Amino acid sequence: MDRRSFLKASAATCAATLLPRLSLARADDGSFELEASKGKARLYGEDGATSDLWLYNGQLPGPEIRARRGERVRVRFTNNLDEPTSVHWHGIRIDNAMDGVAGLTQPAVQPGESFEYDFVAPDAGTFWYHAHNMSWNQVPRGLSGPLIIEDDKPLFAEGTDVTMVLNDWRLDENGALETASFGARMDFSHAGRLGNWLTINGQSMPDIPLKKGHWHRLRLINTSASRILDLAPARFGAQLIALDGQTFSAPREIDGTLQLSPAQRMDLILRPQQTGTVPFETMTGKPFTFANFQVVDAEVPSLPLVVPPANALPEPDLASARTLPLVMEGGAMGGMRSLMKDGKEMDMRQMMEAGLFWAFNGVAGMEEKPLFSAKRGETIVLDSRNDTAFAHAMHIHGHHFRVLERNNKKLEHPDWRDTFTAVPRETVKIAFVADNPGKWLIHCHMLGHAASGMTTWFEVS
Ligand code: C2O
Ligand code: CU
Repeated sequence: MDRRSFLKASAATCAATLLPRLSLARADDGSFELEASKGKARLYGEDGATSDLWLYNGQLPGPEIRARRGERVRVRFTNNLDEPTSVHWHGIRIDNAMDGVAGLTQPAVQPGESFEYDFVAPDAGTFWYHAHNMSWNQVPRGLSGPLIIEDDKPLFAEGTDVTMVLNDWRLDENGALETASFGARMDFSHAGRLGNWLTINGQSMPDIPLKKGHWHRLRLINTSASRILDLAPARFGAQLIALDGQTFSAPREIDGTLQLSPAQRMDLILRPQQTGTVPFETMTGKPFTFANFQVVDAEVPSLPLVVPPANALPEPDLASARTLPLVMEGGAMGGMRSLMKDGKEMDMRQMMEAGLFWAFNGVAGMEEKPLFSAKRGETIVLDSRNDTAFAHAMHIHGHHFRVLERNNKKLEHPDWRDTFTAVPRETVKIAFVADNPGKWLIHCHMLGHAASGMTTWFEVS
C-alpha cells in the first residue's frame, strides 16, 4: 500500500500534541545512562496498532542528550537487545575510539554488556545518535535519538528551542511496523526501505506549539532509513541558519524546497506573527502535511534574535589538496555488470547471491585496505559522481567537509556538511582537512545501500 492509499483508507486520525521534549537527566557523576531494549509505541496515533520496536530508554525517539560545546560527555550504554549493537554519535568530530562503529572502532556491545562512551563535542549544533551495527535493521526499528550540543550561552528562550525528529515508517494495514520486509533485496537494490507514514518525535500528526512574536529555533533531524524529505521553510515563514549542525554567519532565505536526506539536519529560525494553525509539509509529489504548528499568544517579549556563532572548523587548503575520485555505481537499472570484492571480480549472478548491489570505484563494501590514507592535516578533495539510477546520501565520519561544486559549478554557499546528497548523474565536489586520526567510514546513509556495498573507509595517520 502506498502512502496515498494508506491515507485515504483512514483519513481521520486525531492530532496528538507534541510535548516539549525533555532532555535526559544526568546521573550524580554527570554521566548519562542509555539502554537499548525492545519496546512498543503507536506510530499511527490512537487508532493504529501497537508496534514492536527497539528503543533507547524505552522512548521513541531515544531521549534527547544535551551538552555544552567543549564539554566532556559520558554515556554509559547497556545493550539489552538480543543481538550485538553499538552507538554512533553522528556528526560529532569525535575521538576515533568513541565513534561507535562496530567492527571498525570497537567490537560490538554484546547482549547484556555495557560500554562507556566518553568524548568531547567540539561543535555546537544539532546532531543525533543511532545504532551502528546492522544499521539497516536496528535504526528503522527505532534505535536513534537527538544529540544537541548547546552554544556557550542559551540564545533562545524556554520553549522556543524545538527539536523535531522526523522519521519514515513502513506500516502494515493495521498501522503497525511492517517487519517481514526488513532486508528485502528489492529495497536494497532500489531506493532503500521507504515507508508510508511519517512521525515527528515519534508522534503521528502532532501539533507543535509556537509562541506568537517569539523567535524560535527548529532543529530538524531526518532519522529515516531512506526517505529524502523535501521541505519548504518559506511556506511557514522560516529561514535557514544551519545545516548538519554547522551555523551560517547570517540566516538564509530559501526559495522553493530544500532536500533533507537521511541523517541530515536543518536548523531553522522563525518568528510567527499571527496565532493559528500552520501546516508542516513535505513537498515530494504534492504537499503532504504531517504536523501542524499551533501558534498561540505569549505575553513575555521575545529575546532578540542572536544567530548562534559558527564553529571553528579547519579550512581546506585547495592549493595543496589531493583529489580522489568517488564513483557511485550499481543498483537496479544502474548498468553495472560486475564489481570487485576482496580482489576478485564478481559477475551479476554472484553479486545477487552475495547481496551486493552497489560499489564505490567498482569495489563493493569494506576491504582490508582503506579507500585512501591521509596524513594528518592533509586536505582531501573528493570528486564524486553518482552513476546510479538512485539518489544517495553520502556520510563521512569524524569530519565535516565543504560542498564546493555540483555538476562542475561552484556553489554560492560552500556549506559545511557531514552528509551530502547526490542525485542520479550528478557530480559533487567536496573538500575537507583530514585532521582527525583514526579509521573512518564513508558510506551511503540509505542504510540498505550501505549494507549492500556502499560502505568504505579511510585512514588518517
Ligand atoms: Cu549516521 Cu555511519 O552513520
Ligand atoms: Cu545510497
